[in-house]
Order: sequence, then C-alpha cells, then structure tokens
Amino acid sequence: MPHINETPLVGSPERTEEQPESFMNDVISGLSKEQKSIPAKYFYDEAGSVLFDRICELDEYYPTRTEMAIMQENIKEIALQIGSEALLVEYGSGSSLKTRILLKHLNNLAGYVPIDISREHLYQSAERLAVDFPHIPIHPVHADYSTPVVLPVDRGNYKRTVFFFPGSTIGNFDPDEALAFLNRISASAGRGGGLLIGVDLQKDPLVLEAAYNDKEGVTAAFNKNVLSRINRELGADFDLDGFEHKALYNDEAGRIEMHLISQHEQNVHIGEHSFTFRHGETIHTENSHKYTLPQFAALAKRADFKVSRLWTDNRCLFSIHYLTVV
Ligand code: TRP
Repeated sequence: MPHINETPLVGSPERTEEQPESFMNDVISGLSKEQKSIPAKYFYDEAGSVLFDRICELDEYYPTRTEMAIMQENIKEIALQIGSEALLVEYGSGSSLKTRILLKHLNNLAGYVPIDISREHLYQSAERLAVDFPHIPIHPVHADYSTPVVLPVDRGNYKRTVFFFPGSTIGNFDPDEALAFLNRISASAGRGGGLLIGVDLQKDPLVLEAAYNDKEGVTAAFNKNVLSRINRELGADFDLDGFEHKALYNDEAGRIEMHLISQHEQNVHIGEHSFTFRHGETIHTENSHKYTLPQFAALAKRADFKVSRLWTDNRCLFSIHYLTVV
C-alpha cells in the first residue's frame, strides 16, 4: 500500500509561504541598493519553473546531465556509502529523476522526507513517488531552507540520517550562507549522518559563461521573467525590451553572476516608488559559486563534515560528494 504520512507545517505559514507584502518589500529594498538586486527566489513562479526545467536540458548547460551521469555510473558505490536503513532527507523537489535513482537503488531505505516551500508541489510529487515506490514510507515536510527541520520519524526506526542536496544549489548561496546551511544539515543529521551533495567545479570561464548565456535565449527568458512577474504581481512598468540578460564569471569571487542590463537611461515605477536606471546599469539577480575540490573540502570541514567519498566525470566538470558528520 502506498502511504504518505501527512506532517504538520513546520514554522508559521507567514514564514513558509511567500506573502505579496514581502515580495514588494524585497524588491523595493533590492532596487534601492547601490548595486541593484532582486532575490533569486522570485524566479520560480509557474513560468519561471517551466523555463528552469528547459535550462536543465540545454546543450550548453552541462551540470544537470553531468550530475545525472555521475550518479548513474556510481550508484552502487553511492548506495554502499549510504548503507542500509537510512532516512533520506531532501530539500527541494521530490519529483526529480535524481531522487528516483536513489530511491531505486538504496538498500532497505527507512523512509524518504522531501522538504519543500511549495505545499502543492510537495504533496503532488510525494504522491507520485508513493505510487512508484510503494515500499518506501514517504513523509513530506512543508518548510523552507532556513528553518531547522524536525524530522518526522522516530529515531529508533532508522540507522542514520542522510541528506541529499543535488544540482549544485549550494553554489547559489554566498559562502557564509553556504556554511550556515551546511552547519544546519550536520547538526540535524548528527554524528554518523551524511550528506550527498552535487557541487559544480571551477573550469574554463568560457565553458561557464556559455552554460548561462545559451544561444536559444532560455536563460535570458528565465532571468527576464522576474521582471514580468514584478510587473504582473506588483503593478510595475518594467519595459522588458529595455533590459538585456548577461551572465559573467567573476574570477575573484569564483562565481557566475547573472545580471539584467539597462539598455538606456530609464525610469521604472513600482507602486509609489520610482527607480532610475543609468545606461548600462545592472540588476544583479543570481550567483552560482564554483568550487575547487580543496575549497569545498575546507568548507565542509568548517561545518563538521569530512569528505568520505567523491565522484566526478572524466572532464572534472562536476562533482558529487558524500560527506559524513565527524
Ligand atoms: N544551481 C544551479 C546553477 O547554479 C541551477 C540554477 C540556479 C540556475 N539558478 C539558476 C541555472 C539560474 C541558471 C540560471 O547552475
């Protein structure tokens, strides 16, 4: 019998659902800064999520396909590292192909805990997984990254807690946020617990920049979609043709930065606020940090993790680490 154990909300609804007022406040405060910015979480409305899925399939966008191949190729070793009777916990989408590879191959999994900020998405994908993996107890938890999650399974029912964080999403955090996030995971996993994490690696900036400036313009549409969302939901008047997408590699910070560049001097109105853009001025919308293997090992160490195993592709584009709490 497929079963899903409904778990009550963790944290208050105000904290876990996006409120229109906080969207407005975040946009106003981001555009009021010296370097204008918009928080990346606002990319993901319905249109944004569809565009994001298309990014993952682009020829130039190597991370998704490389990470999948590394998983498929090494799944036996990965399963061996994780061991039997683990509780698998994942922040983000529970419907992804990567999760399915794990659910298929992990030995005698004690349960799967998908955690997601979007309630509907969470329960829909949990239901699909429950149908396809009827022997695995699924315990969805509605929460966001920033809330310490109380695991909904009695500690006596599994041997260790293993978190799964694919997609190099860790790279979308600034280094201090990445450290805080890893610290929360190691504290929550506890001694003997683990983290299976995908980490994109530093490489030729031309390869990196191509991945985020695809020829078809899907990443550009994804980036600009945040402006149409602001127009629609906050009644703003961004001229979408007045901005151009550009991703550049910031060598010093080791990260891809996504920007929207104003094509001429212009004013934009949001409610009673007005913002002036100089010709060439940018809105910074996303960072994607790239690590070297030693850099990532050092970061993991500061969060009480050690690198137990590590897998890469033969071109060293991408890596998957199995970290354990020391
Ligand atoms: N974490 C992945 C990356 O940085 C996926 C991703 C997040 C992404 N935000 C993005 C990809 C914006 C393209 C554009 O590559």
